[in-house]
Amino acid sequence: MPKDWFEWHDLYNSEPKLQQRLQIVREYISHSLDVSLPGIIRVVSVCAGDGRDLLGTLSKHPRAKDVYARLVELDPKLVERGKLAIESAGLAKQIEFVNGDATNSSNYAGAVPADIVIVCGIFGNLADEAELNRLLRNLSLLSKKGSLIIWTRGETKDIRHSDTVRKLLREADFEEVSFKLTPTGDMAVGLHRYLGEGSALLENQQLFVFSGTPNRAAQPVFQTSGE
Ligand SMILES: C[S@@+](CC[C@H](N)C(=O)[O-])C[C@H]1O[C@@H](n2cnc3c(N)ncnc32)[C@H](O)[C@@H]1O
Repeated sequence: MPKDWFEWHDLYNSEPKLQQRLQIVREYISHSLDVSLPGIIRVVSVCAGDGRDLLGTLSKHPRAKDVYARLVELDPKLVERGKLAIESAGLAKQIEFVNGDATNSSNYAGAVPADIVIVCGIFGNLADEAELNRLLRNLSLLSKKGSLIIWTRGETKDIRHSDTVRKLLREADFEEVSFKLTPTGDMAVGLHRYLGEGSALLENQQLFVFSGTPNRAAQPVFQTSGE
């Protein structure tokens, strides 16, 4: 991985754009829980970091006890921190933090189809539009009709990357429920509903490649604003 993702999480303490992004993501998770049918709510988080978006929401949400979640994250220190937060919230029986490769379908076995799929901090770390499209299409493996998907994308000075995300989501059978830019204007957060039927999860499928950076050789030169 090109970055120290554990250190990257420290930016949540100082960067308004990340703080505002987190606030919107939590608002969308909270809304998704609000509109969930009675009974178990299945959540998966892809490249979950330390899980602060979901865990911070559950700490205040009346449906917390209905949530069964699988968070998949590669960095062991982030997983350790997430697990501590899960234990101190009394959610250890419901929330599973897998220290593994979120790009491999096997790490979602038994946890999908999910009612809520969190894909935050990923789209800006894919090589190009084709790879983004591959990931969006593969969300059908984690989803069922009506699943809610929460995503983020950093904008750059000259390019509204979120326009591409929204276009590809439409083409992949998702309808937009809500979309917001952070007040800083450089982070986009979306909430989409899956309208397709979902597909069976096969073992050991590569859902996408987290390259950590866009493929500059294949795209016009632009200034990256991160995730
Ligand atoms: C930009 S951070 C986003 C973290 C979190 N989703 C958030 O929004 O705060 C990207 C995360 O992806 C994780 N990651 C990168 N490649 C991964 C992989 N193949 N499998 C699981 N996690 C991965 C990194 O360790 C990092 O925590």
